[in-house]
Amino acid sequence: MGGLARVCGILREGWVMAGVLHGVVAMDGPSGTGKSTVSRRLARELGAAYLDTGAMYRAVTLACLRAGLTAESPAAEISRAALAAELHSVTDPSAPKILLAGEDVEAEIRGEAVTRAVSAVSAVPEVRDALVARQRAYIDQARAGIVVEGRDIGSVVAPDAKLKVYLTASEEVRAARRNRQDAKAGRSADAAATLADVQRRDRLDSTRKTSPLHAAADALVLDTDEMSVDAVHTELLRLVADRGMVS
Ligand code: DC
Repeated sequence: MGGLARVCGILREGWVMAGVLHGVVAMDGPSGTGKSTVSRRLARELGAAYLDTGAMYRAVTLACLRAGLTAESPAAEISRAALAAELHSVTDPSAPKILLAGEDVEAEIRGEAVTRAVSAVSAVPEVRDALVARQRAYIDQARAGIVVEGRDIGSVVAPDAKLKVYLTASEEVRAARRNRQDAKAGRSADAAATLADVQRRDRLDSTRKTSPLHAAADALVLDTDEMSVDAVHTELLRLVADRGMVS
């Protein structure tokens, strides 16, 4: 089967679904839950766009660092530098990337300096307002469906999303996943330091005043501690089909 009628996956029940996603899938949750992997895979299989909003916060953080600012700089200076950043997200799930003034900064935004500073930058209300507006513009531009991943997609960015999923996993499992990811990408990976960083970012992301990390009231919570990527993917396919989002 090829062309438009692509095979999108075999559901647990054993039947084959073919089709294209319509509407917005909001994928929220802390880091290390496998959000990016399953979001990209879902978008790829259902011919949808994919937006990584964490990459947008990371890219404006990089812009702040390049402007000589730090996580401790005054919020007004952080928001000035962040708002001046010329961002472009490529929403192809097969090759997603983010451009800063035309430069591909996908690798640099995953490095330690950005990871350390991003929670502080993303806690600045003016930064959030500006990025939420851009995220909504990408959602409006998506011709068919779009899978959007982040922390506040179901609660703030796209409260009308037809499907909202909140992925969770224990701190230990998330730190181990992040470690494997870092090692694979050639970044140094110390288990204790990664766990401490996961805990630090969780604390900052869930206690900030503006849009703290939490599951939207109508989000479906999936604990992925005991779930493989395949199992989460299968569950997501079942959910989008259930909500009539595939044609
Ligand atoms: O998903 P990630 O680890 O790349 O996200 C980087 C940071 O951006 C994370 O610490 C929280 C923040 N973030 C956010 O505040 N809101 C979003 N929608 C996405 C990410």
